[in-house]
Amino acid sequence: MQEVIEMFQKDTRNAMSAKVYAQQIAFAPFVFQSSRALRNFGILNIIEDSGELGITAKDIHSRTKLSEYSVRVLLEAGLGIGLLTIDDGKYILTRTGYFILHDKMTIANMDFTHDVCYKGLFDLDKSLMSGKPEGLKVFGDWKTIYEALAHLPEHVRTSWFAFDHYYSSDSFPVVLEHVFKSKPKKILDIGGNTGKWALQCFSHSPTVIMGIADLPGQLNVAKQTIATNGFTNRAEFFEVDLLDEKCPLPTGFDVIWMSQFLDCFSEDEIVSILKRCYAALPDNGQVIILEPLWDKQTYEVSAFCLQMTSLYFTAMANGNSQMYHSELFTGLIRKAGFTFIERIDRIGICHSMMKCSK
Ligand SMILES: C[S@@+](CC[C@H](N)C(=O)[O-])C[C@H]1O[C@@H](n2cnc3c(N)ncnc32)[C@H](O)[C@@H]1O
Repeated sequence: MQEVIEMFQKDTRNAMSAKVYAQQIAFAPFVFQSSRALRNFGILNIIEDSGELGITAKDIHSRTKLSEYSVRVLLEAGLGIGLLTIDDGKYILTRTGYFILHDKMTIANMDFTHDVCYKGLFDLDKSLMSGKPEGLKVFGDWKTIYEALAHLPEHVRTSWFAFDHYYSSDSFPVVLEHVFKSKPKKILDIGGNTGKWALQCFSHSPTVIMGIADLPGQLNVAKQTIATNGFTNRAEFFEVDLLDEKCPLPTGFDVIWMSQFLDCFSEDEIVSILKRCYAALPDNGQVIILEPLWDKQTYEVSAFCLQMTSLYFTAMANGNSQMYHSELFTGLIRKAGFTFIERIDRIGICHSMMKCSK
């Protein structure tokens, strides 16, 4: 199978298509916002309902609360963007329009981009200079988005969690077998978030004890979720801030699990966290990491999604982390003293699972 990195080795556009694409980049915020408006005002739905026959601007207008002018500028933008075609004055939905309307990944990415990142991304250049998430100021005075998460407006939280969970949910059932291969009695989930992974482990094994370590805001959500599902007697909770190098990890766990966690940290911070994992694990313990590595994707578009997500970390999350390249990332794991047992790529939508021993 072709490695995704090979797809980035050649400039495949001729001069004409390159110039066209450059305009799409130059107008990217217009493309994004008008596509979102066409979706949110129900215009794409109305056009989809009209099927292959299509529908006139006048008829679309009569079914929305927008003025004729607003409907017209959106429809004409939809043509240029490629969401719509027009035939004899009637608008018809394209395949791209269909994906904007129905594709779960597109919806998660679009809502995350708008609700969490859009305003803050304006200050990307400042973040690149300062190494701080300057865009996060739009939500208040926070050091990282993870401290802020529990306090963000509800629609912003919803879009953040939908984005995060969209990517991890498909992978969790696939990796359960791999994680339980060594028959761990106790697993520590660092960055356990809402307790989603812990719940999957409780259902998979009738005896496993799960530890969840996270910042206080997320830990409280996890506590509630685990209690609601009746597993509190098999759960242990640890309030930690792993940005504090002096914050140790609890001992007594056979496996330390981290999913979409280490990408929230810079290279030095990753090594520091992994060294603390090393210190906390018994000699036969394992650390198992689930991460999206951009160069290990099957499709160029998956790599694109991850390369763009890196800029969320720059502008909004913490200013210094990213979705890593496999070579850089595995180097950090080795630097912390771990040895690779195995790495399995192409899990779920975009993940690699790395199993390491002391
Ligand atoms: C991107 S989420 C991943 C959640 C979950 N593991 C998953 O795969 O869906 C990262 C998690 O790491 C936690 N986190 C971020 N910074 C942290 C820190 N300094 N100390 C402890 N946890 C932190 C966040 O609160 C969040 O729950």
